Amino acid sequence: MAWQKVAKLTDVKDGHGISVVAPGRKKPIAVFCCNGQFFALADECSHAYAPLSESDVENFIVTCRWHGAQFDVRSGKGIGTLAYADVRSFPVRIEDGSIEVEV
Ligand code: FES
Repeated sequence: MAWQKVAKLTDVKDGHGISVVAPGRKKPIAVFCCNGQFFALADECSHAYAPLSESDVENFIVTCRWHGAQFDVRSGKGIGTLAYADVRSFPVRIEDGSIEVEV
């Protein structure tokens, strides 16, 4: 596990996500901003594999834009029956105006 710089703070707007690929990792990661805090989840909905980074987040819940599955961005925990499984979450820290994810 190592901290990897994946984006600048200004790259992620509050209530939204972006998709990043951390060095040394093949699968994308969704980085979200909610209430001024940053979170990282595997960028793949557990319902039918939509990229969660394209979905909006409100009150720490991201709602998949394809069919509405919901996940807590703080933990990746699925909410309700559409979320077939939790999604992986990654630790996030801010360093010198950059977002770093531990992968
Ligand atoms: S792919 Fe996300 S809700 Fe269906």
